[in-house]
Amino acid sequence: MVKEQFNSRFGVIMATAAGAVGLGNIWKFPYMLGQNGGAAFLVVYIVCVLLFGLPLMITEFVMGKRSGQSVRGAYQVLAGNTHWNGIPILTCLSVMLIIGVYLVITGWCVKYLLLSVFPSLPMLNGWTDILCNTIAVFISVMVVWMGVNKGIERLSKIFMPILLLIVIILAVRVAFLPGAKEGLTFLFAFDASKLSFDVVLSALGQCFYSLSIGMGALITFGSYIPKKQNVVSLVGNVIAVDTLVAVLAACAIIPAVFAYGSSPEQGPKLVFSVLPVVFQQMPGGQVMAVLFFALLCIAAITSIVSLLEVLTASLVDISAQKKHPLTRHRAILYTGGVCLLISIFCALSLTDSGNWLVWGGKTLFDHIDRLTSCYMLPLVALSTVIFFGWFVDKNVMKEEMQPHYGSRLWTIRVYYFLIRWCFPILIFLIALHSIGII
Ligand code: PHE
Repeated sequence: MVKEQFNSRFGVIMATAAGAVGLGNIWKFPYMLGQNGGAAFLVVYIVCVLLFGLPLMITEFVMGKRSGQSVRGAYQVLAGNTHWNGIPILTCLSVMLIIGVYLVITGWCVKYLLLSVFPSLPMLNGWTDILCNTIAVFISVMVVWMGVNKGIERLSKIFMPILLLIVIILAVRVAFLPGAKEGLTFLFAFDASKLSFDVVLSALGQCFYSLSIGMGALITFGSYIPKKQNVVSLVGNVIAVDTLVAVLAACAIIPAVFAYGSSPEQGPKLVFSVLPVVFQQMPGGQVMAVLFFALLCIAAITSIVSLLEVLTASLVDISAQKKHPLTRHRAILYTGGVCLLISIFCALSLTDSGNWLVWGGKTLFDHIDRLTSCYMLPLVALSTVIFFGWFVDKNVMKEEMQPHYGSRLWTIRVYYFLIRWCFPILIFLIALHSIGII
């Protein structure tokens, strides 16, 4: 079967950016910025993105593009043996669990969107959360079902510009609120005293999450890139869009929070409990709320789509070697079904009827969130850099760069120095930081 490819450069950028731009940008980035000193965090974040995000994204993209395979096949093709099969399995497992947790939050976004459009809708108990999860899975499965071109690429080309437009409208509207200036100063006035080791590690972790590093999405999408495209410039564009949306989302949220007398240091609940109250007090707040939650839903669902594609492509590849290969459509139904099931248990664990899913004082949702972000994702990222830095032929990267950059060998040398020595240490540090050891 001939593999589908993205049709255009614009399509590659939009599809990859749609996968990268998610709750990490709109929900997580603004509250992390609020908790870590505003502009100081922003500056460190941008440095991390350029220094670490860029080369790591290039690595994953090149792995996909050169092998032309899903996560499952890429390691095998590039290493020429099957010793590395454990990494794709670990990647797929963590992706499945990540989607489960992510779907719960996406369900809340869908619920808040419905509530802001129909304020009198009765949406009180945990079952509505599960219903909203199911709506999100259904939409995501439909997009993946339509295929790489007609589904993922086409819809990303439509929804990414809409998302950008919404976030710009929100940021501009908020900038005109009386009292917004204080928030903008918090965002953009650099105060070096706020810098700390903790801020640096938080920014690094956020950079990995926001750019979907270690989730297999870049390898999978890389395998759909037409051969003559320049990976570096593609990645540059994706990073620019991802960072722009994160900064604009912060400009829409933090000044609004300041203008209505709340604190930006509220953590994860900033978007779900502080903002709805802020919108209620704001003139034209209902329209703003609808736009904002539509923005969150688009960002979240397109990210889920990218990870469902990782699972679907890998499952199709695995089954291709079996006696009865799975069709793509069947694989989508299986992966969508399993992720929905995980998310239902996660959502249940947050309700009163889910007491049996709480242990050690934490819910299943918290356990999975911690397991994936503190252990599994760093482990995948670490194994990927060690694999590519030490075990894949250096010519793979050289041949990919040569048509576009000639033989500027020093860039390759810097790249290998980073990937072989610096990144493994850094990823290890991030892992220790997120576990709470340092
Ligand atoms: N980069 C994505 C985001 O910012 C990360 C992600 C994608 C996480 C898909 C979960 C699912 O939200």
